Amino acid sequence: MSEKVLVTYATKMGATAGIAAAVGSELRAAGFEVDVHELSAAQAVTPYDAVVLGSAIYQGHWLPEAVRFLRRHERQLRNRSVWLFHSGPVGITSHQDQPVPPDVARLARLIAAPPIKTFAGNLQPDAVLHHPDLERLTTDSRDWPEIRTWADEIATTLLAGAHT
Ligand SMILES: Cc1cc2nc3c(=O)[nH]c(=O)nc-3n(C[C@H](O)[C@H](O)[C@H](O)COP(=O)(O)O)c2cc1C
Repeated sequence: MSEKVLVTYATKMGATAGIAAAVGSELRAAGFEVDVHELSAAQAVTPYDAVVLGSAIYQGHWLPEAVRFLRRHERQLRNRSVWLFHSGPVGITSHQDQPVPPDVARLARLIAAPPIKTFAGNLQPDAVLHHPDLERLTTDSRDWPEIRTWADEIATTLLAGAHT
């Protein structure tokens, strides 16, 4: 029987949803049974063998529902393969790893997750309406080949049964 994977995400403007969908498609193509849900629709992790969770970064923080989910499901996540990512940087900084907020770093340590992956984001004009200083940065920097490569690495690890 194929392993079941939950890909879940927190987003404000949809960029992180697109990344999660791409990760989900790649894992599905590798033969896994995959559910992709926004965090508000992801009730439990117990039906899944592995969990991929991502959040958009705003002002250096993860969206609160992502932190809450990690906290609420910490014990179950400890017993599963878990991968975490965040999406944020755009333009010339788009390939810079972003600092992991301390609350997330603490939870990631508790669940023994591998290093958190930074993906470039999509800063949309709607998102900067109240932030004129960010207006000149609006662009979609999401790197689809990099996203698919990361998902392939997850698939390889799960297939090898090597991740604990
Ligand atoms: C007000 C505001 C603050 C942001 N702060 C950060 C930040 O601290 N670090 C970062 O890497 N990106 C930051 N971003 C960029 C967003 O994280 C990026 O646009 C992301 O892809 C949005 O994801 P979403 O569409 O899933 O909500 C910020 C964007 C806005 C509008």
